[in-house]
Amino acid sequence: MTDIHEHDVLVIGAGGAGLRAAVAAHEAGADVAMVTKLHPVRSHTGAAEGGINAALREGDSWELHAYDTMKGSDYLGDAPAIETLAQDAPEDVIDLEHWGMPFSREEDGTVSQRPFGGLSFARTTYAGAETGHHLLHTLYEQVVKRGITVYDEWYVTRLAVTDEDDPADRTCHGVVAIDVKTGEVAGFRATSGVILATGGLGQAFDHTTNAVSCTGDGPAMAYRVGVPLEDMEFVQFHPTTLPSTGVLISEGVRGEGGILYNAEGERFMFEGGYANNDGELASRDVVSRAELTEINEGRGIEDEYVHLDMRHLGEERIVDRLENILHLAADFEGVDGLEEPMPVKPGQHYEMGGIEVDENGETVIDGLYAAGECACVSVHGSNRLGGNALPELIVFGKRAGLAAAGGDLGEADIPTGRHDEFETDSIDSPVPLGEAGSLDDEAVADGGPALSDADSVVEAAVEAETGRVETLMDREDGVNHAEIRAEVQRTMTENVNVFREAPGLKRALEDIRAARERYADVSVDDPSRTFNTDLIQTIETRNILDVAEAITIGALAREEFRGAHWRAEFQERRDEEWLKHTMLAWNGGSPDLYYKPVDLDGENEEHTYEPKERSY
Ligand code: FUM
Repeated sequence: MTDIHEHDVLVIGAGGAGLRAAVAAHEAGADVAMVTKLHPVRSHTGAAEGGINAALREGDSWELHAYDTMKGSDYLGDAPAIETLAQDAPEDVIDLEHWGMPFSREEDGTVSQRPFGGLSFARTTYAGAETGHHLLHTLYEQVVKRGITVYDEWYVTRLAVTDEDDPADRTCHGVVAIDVKTGEVAGFRATSGVILATGGLGQAFDHTTNAVSCTGDGPAMAYRVGVPLEDMEFVQFHPTTLPSTGVLISEGVRGEGGILYNAEGERFMFEGGYANNDGELASRDVVSRAELTEINEGRGIEDEYVHLDMRHLGEERIVDRLENILHLAADFEGVDGLEEPMPVKPGQHYEMGGIEVDENGETVIDGLYAAGECACVSVHGSNRLGGNALPELIVFGKRAGLAAAGGDLGEADIPTGRHDEFETDSIDSPVPLGEAGSLDDEAVADGGPALSDADSVVEAAVEAETGRVETLMDREDGVNHAEIRAEVQRTMTENVNVFREAPGLKRALEDIRAARERYADVSVDDPSRTFNTDLIQTIETRNILDVAEAITIGALAREEFRGAHWRAEFQERRDEEWLKHTMLAWNGGSPDLYYKPVDLDGENEEHTYEPKERSY
């Protein structure tokens, strides 16, 4: 008989979305526990720099925020989600303020807001250039204050889900996690709901702003138990990352007036005609393509990067608003930002797609919710605006927390799951996508015992996970996960980057499939049960394989240029055919592709969003 921890609501991951969800569920009266592979204040939200968008000032409005977000999404965001974000953000930011978040302030004491890319109003509220760090600490204080249980350094590796044929009939009863400190495999039962808030998947690429912990765990686990992944091909490449490490240099630098130059000293955003109105503050997809065009056409510095100059802002302003940037440039690139321009190039930063959810954070599986970067609601469509990730965490984290605790948020407008009227498709794959072989042992949903009683579902999941761990530990002379991970990162960065074309995407799919086959022989060299990072990373690599494949399948299938998805063969947005969300269902390891319509209808007639040409 397995030892099972029981709570009403389990929150998996303890970044901004997870912490906010936990606080909301607790306030709704639930017994909440967080299960997280990192200590909460080590979560990657802490690396968010620039700020939180919210319409807080006179002259601004939630409607303007919604319009900017829809335009930024290149009309692939869903209006009910975008409007919820824009409407709820002001109140949720004010909650942070009341909880003591140290926002930067004006002389009169009001919180400061700065311009950010793609915004028609300077609505990015910030705390220096370390907004995420302060947000994380502010929310963690609220979790501690409420006495919410935190199982930290427990890595959730499997969802405990019933095995009905149709995912819409399944129920999630809990999770299985490995205690990183001891190697124990344990079950966690949720009587009310499980919320996935596991963050990003940047480790599928080798030049990323994301921490090593960002391995797509939530999307991969949800996918394998039957929740569709949505719009995975839309990956954001941030225009200003340090070339040697991928460390983020905030858009706040350009928001404060920082300028981009090429090797010839040209302010190329204007002189090259990339964004004649907004220049450096065009949307991120536009700026990243402009930089790489300059570099590819021979106007980059050392053929690799461009310069971001903030010297003209003066020391006082830089130290007041961007001090963190000085430290990052000095520590990671050896550059003094007060005296020299900083080298920058595009790097993977954010996944717009993810676990399909509605505005209440609900997935198609009963009892399973998701919020934050791991989810796709869809607010960001094909391109996220800078400063829209943090409001997404708090707005949709809070909503998922309330919903999972049994709160009534009203019926959602956004449909989840597969409906008969949805269009299906297949991709022109260079390799058979089925037959995931021994990797298929993952999902309770695929051929597991017919279980309905909740405890048995969790126990069966613990048993299956224990079996997987023992197999990985016992296998001798297998392949090391690091080789497989490096191969996936290489091919994703080479072939599924800012500029994409069919031959490269097909090569990436072949490489990922070959890596998947090698993974069937993966083994763990470290025999210890204590802090066995070899084991943890081996399991994470499995998740990276699944999300990398999903991104590439979506990218190969989408034959148009929209937002962050540029295709050499298709140089236009093709609304007649492609105004639709890419959906991918696991289907026993043989991904099934279908499409869900985009919802552009706002809450009243004045708020209907007509797709227009997008220029900055
Ligand atoms: O550039 C930045 O500070 C990042 C902000 C964001 O991704 O929202």
